[in-house]
Amino acid sequence: MSVTNEAEKKKVIFSAIQPSGTITLGNYLGALRNWTALQDDYQCIFALADLHTITVRQEPTKFRHNALEAYALLLACGINVEKSLFFIQSHVHTHAELAWILNCYTQFGELSRMTQFKDKSTKHADNINVGLFTYPSLMAADILLYQADLIPVGADQKQHLELARDIAERFNRIYSPTFVVPQPYISKTGARVMSLQDPTKKMSKSDENANSCVAVLDKPEDIMRKFKRAITDSDGLIAYGEEKDGINNLMGIYACVTGKTNEQIETEFSGKGYGDFKTAVADAVIAHLQPIQEKFSHYMTDKAYLEKCYIESAEKALSISNRTLRKVMKKIGFIPKTY
Ligand code: TRP
Repeated sequence: MSVTNEAEKKKVIFSAIQPSGTITLGNYLGALRNWTALQDDYQCIFALADLHTITVRQEPTKFRHNALEAYALLLACGINVEKSLFFIQSHVHTHAELAWILNCYTQFGELSRMTQFKDKSTKHADNINVGLFTYPSLMAADILLYQADLIPVGADQKQHLELARDIAERFNRIYSPTFVVPQPYISKTGARVMSLQDPTKKMSKSDENANSCVAVLDKPEDIMRKFKRAITDSDGLIAYGEEKDGINNLMGIYACVTGKTNEQIETEFSGKGYGDFKTAVADAVIAHLQPIQEKFSHYMTDKAYLEKCYIESAEKALSISNRTLRKVMKKIGFIPKTY
C-alpha cells in the first residue's frame, strides 16, 4: 500500500507572490493563470510572501489591506484551497526560522552577486537594509521547507532559484541528503506581457506611465482606454513579426485570453486597422477579467471565508514545514525540542 502511494505521489510545486500592491495583467497571464492550471497534476503549495514585502518600507494599514486583497484576488484567479495550500508566509513561523539557519550556509559573496539586490539598492538607496540583502535565503527557505520539486519562476527570479539549489546542495553535502534540490518549472503556455507604452519592457506596476500597465482589477473603461492608447507600429499590419513589439504584445495578450492562435488572429483581422484590433483586445481582456473581478468582490465581503482558507492552509503548511525544520536542526546538532 505504502509503495503504491509513494509511486503515485504527485510532484510538489511551490510558488509565492508578494502582496505589494497592484496585481497586473502581466502577473496574471504570465504566472497566476499557469499556477491554477497546475493544481490537478501537482501538489501545489502557494504562499503570499509578505515577509519579503517588508524589505521595502510599508505603511501598516495599506500593507494589511494589500495583503488581504491579494489573497482574495488570487483565490478569484483560481487558486483552489481544496486542492492546494495557499497560506500567508508570516503565519508560518518555520519560514523565518529556516531562513536564519540558511543565512549561516550562504556566503556574503553569493548574495552580493544577486542582480535584484543591486537593482533594488540603487532604487531604494535610502533603505538598503539587511533584509533586502538576505531576501534570497528567505526565498530558499520557502522552497526547501516543502521539499519542492518544481518552482515556476520568471526570468527575474531565476538567479534566486539557482542560489536556493546551491544552498540545498551545500547542506546535503555537509550533512547528508536533507533537501530536495528544486528545478525551475518552465510553463508551456502563458505570455510575457510587455508594457503597453514601451513594448520592449516588461509590464510593471511601478512604471511611471499609468497607461503602460493594466491591473486585473482595473475598471472596463480604464482597460479600454489603456489598450486604445497602446503603442503599435507604422506598417499597419496585424501580423506577428520582427520589430513589431507592440503588435506582438497585443497578439500575445489576445491569444492568451481567447485561446486563438496567431494564424487565426491574423485571419480574423486581415484588412482591418489597428483601432479595430486594439478595441477587440480590450473587449476580450475585459470579458476575461469580469468573472475574476466579480469573485474578488464577493470574497472581499466574506472575510470569515478568507480567514478560514488561510488559517487551514497555514496549519497544514506548518505541519509539513516543521518536519523539514526539525530534521535540519537535528543534523546541525541543536538539542532536540521535546515539547
Ligand atoms: N521573490 C518572489 C518575487 O518577488 C516571491 C517569492 C518569495 C517566491 N518566495 C518564493 C517565488 C519562493 C518562488 C519561490 O516574485
